[in-house]
Amino acid sequence: MILSKTFVRRTGFPAAVVLWNIFDQEHVEVLHGSYIEARVMHEDEKHVLQRIRYRLPFFPFIKHSSMSLMTMTGEWSLNDYQLVLFGIPSLASYEIEPHGEEDSTITATYRVVLRGWQKMLAPILRRMMAVWQEKVWEEDLPLKERRTMVLKWGFQDFVGLKEKVEDRVHSGKWECKLPIPRPKESPMDDWRRGLKAGDSDEPAVRLD
Ligand SMILES: [Fe+2]
Repeated sequence: MILSKTFVRRTGFPAAVVLWNIFDQEHVEVLHGSYIEARVMHEDEKHVLQRIRYRLPFFPFIKHSSMSLMTMTGEWSLNDYQLVLFGIPSLASYEIEPHGEEDSTITATYRVVLRGWQKMLAPILRRMMAVWQEKVWEEDLPLKERRTMVLKWGFQDFVGLKEKVEDRVHSGKWECKLPIPRPKESPMDDWRRGLKAGDSDEPAVRLD
């Protein structure tokens, strides 16, 4: 059986800020109480593959490890593929509908595929979905409020605000380009940095 649940929410934020919030990796560990770890393994203009570790709603003593592949499916839509509890496949689809420049609606649909005895988990998983998305939404709110505010003042990533207060005006463009930039030393990239540095000095094994 496929358990599916959809949540629709008028955001009060520009679509570009809502999308930025979903793809900004750096806030996840710091801001979201349930996440223990979220580290990037690969990213490009359309995808982010992360290693994630989090505590389950209702069972915070269970630390679940998984991977998340987020992939853009349109200008304002994306899919997030994960394996949840007991390796159950999950797909979260997000559709953001802009309303003018500064408001939007987000539709989030969570789907999990349940086989055999796993069907008994449907009621608790349905409840978990509701609790999880409400908690994450609440935790993300101040971040989106601040991002929207500083963008209206003309803030640019890694550039900042203009010196003179009268020059602090919005560029007129609301956009979100992937991958979201972050400092070179960001811990988000420790896994990739380790690979580049070459963790192993074992000689290659010829198999022919
Ligand atoms: Fe978040």
